[in-house]
Amino acid sequence: MTLRVLSIASEAVPLIKTGGLADVAGALPDAVAPHGVAMTTILPGYPAVTKALGKAKAIHQWDSLLGEPARLLAGKLGSHPLLVVDSPNLFSRDGGPYADLAGRDWGDNWRRFAAFGRAAADVAGGAVKGLVFDLAHAHDWQAAMAPAYMRFAPAGTAIPSVMTIHNMAFQGYYGADIFALLGLPSWAWAIDGVEYHGGVGFLKAGLESASAITTVSPTYAREIRDPAFGMGLEGLITTKGDRVHGIVNGIDPAVWNPETDQHLLQTYSWRSLARRAANKRALEREFHLEQGDGPLFVCVTRLTWQKGIDVLLEVIDHLVGLGGRLALLGAGDPALEAGLHAAAARHPGRVSLRIGYDEALSHRMQGGGDAILVPSRFEPCGLTQLYGLAYGCVPVVAHTGGLADTVVDANLAAINGQAATGVTFHGVTYPSFAAAITRTIALYGQCDVWTQMQRTGMKTDFSWKRSGQAYAALYRQLAGAE
Ligand code: ADP
Ligand code: GLC
Repeated sequence: MTLRVLSIASEAVPLIKTGGLADVAGALPDAVAPHGVAMTTILPGYPAVTKALGKAKAIHQWDSLLGEPARLLAGKLGSHPLLVVDSPNLFSRDGGPYADLAGRDWGDNWRRFAAFGRAAADVAGGAVKGLVFDLAHAHDWQAAMAPAYMRFAPAGTAIPSVMTIHNMAFQGYYGADIFALLGLPSWAWAIDGVEYHGGVGFLKAGLESASAITTVSPTYAREIRDPAFGMGLEGLITTKGDRVHGIVNGIDPAVWNPETDQHLLQTYSWRSLARRAANKRALEREFHLEQGDGPLFVCVTRLTWQKGIDVLLEVIDHLVGLGGRLALLGAGDPALEAGLHAAAARHPGRVSLRIGYDEALSHRMQGGGDAILVPSRFEPCGLTQLYGLAYGCVPVVAHTGGLADTVVDANLAAINGQAATGVTFHGVTYPSFAAAITRTIALYGQCDVWTQMQRTGMKTDFSWKRSGQAYAALYRQLAGAE
């Protein structure tokens, strides 16, 4: 029997993306389809989304979704069904999905994403004629009110739900005063409901209300039981015990494949690695870096504390001193941007950056760089190291979360067994990161070892096959389906 699942997300490629969540939500329908799951995705109607839909049909409407009129539009996400909550006062604005053009979070985010959760819960509950679902799958705090609204709905039995944590650092925490405006029954204000430290916790409410919890790697599923990673929710996660699953993200081979990637000057496979050289030269030109045979490090990242960019700033002189060069693409914290500009000014021709968001350039960097740096303090899964593996751009990563689960450190045993795919280091500090850079540059100098690492990474299966199956199995178990 085909299982009908509603995937509730605040971003999904190819329509709207700020980070890895979009890659995952966009890939999930294809990932679970071979395992008997028909997935419909529901997104907020940001301008980019409604524009892509064109003249879509409204299949439902709300007179008041937390006080705002809204319509439900039907369209397509790739070849899969898409639903869009079109409420111009909430979602149709210039800027990003969560913040204005200056990067400040929208002041009414609680209302925007409570309304989105409310709409999704209504759809999951059968409010729209002809749409029936067996399970709802909510991603991150922006979708987390959906399981809560489903659980506290006045009528009927709610279908089961899954809540996935892509990042525990973002929880959607608001003051107690919003509770009265959420339209929930008074008994939802409880320690196992939406109440959290005297306010309203969206992610907390979702985690308490869902039938099962997943996060995006087995190591992060363990780490979030610890206060350093659980960010206040470690107790809740520990209490849920074996209802917390770690399912690692895959990558979409239609989008990330060096053999077919249209963004690359030269496509290649693990058999034709020599062809990468042309991409490296092109990347050096694009970044105005000195041409050379020495290692070209790349980094594609949000510029935040999570990603360890402050420590990257500390190791840049060391990296350059050993003959390395660095090309970085990122946007975020202005202080980190300023630090990077200063490093580029100190090392003209050796360090260069692009501030901003550029999907095509991110492909060219994976296809031309020698090694990708991912010094994250915590990383629920991480996708750039997976793209690096697939593209023969050797990942140099902190040993945490999904980075620890996907990169095999080039220790002697792994090198001898031809299992090594990258370099990992413990603790995001200057000494450990600098030592990892030293080690990487030494490995790069051993041509046969380096090539073997590239090939092993490229041949590793990071497709959605296994994880798609794992999600489908979980859905079936929760829905009581055969
Ligand atoms: P996170 O979601 O925490 O930012 P991930 O590694 O899971 O980290 O996913 C980041 C995604 O966003 C990847 O697809 C990466 O290539 C992309 N990305 C991050 N920063 C940029 C940027 N400045 N330009 C283009 N793509 C970026
Ligand atoms: C979050 C995490 C990242 C993960 C992504 C997709 O943005 O920070 O580690 O890969 O979600 O699950």
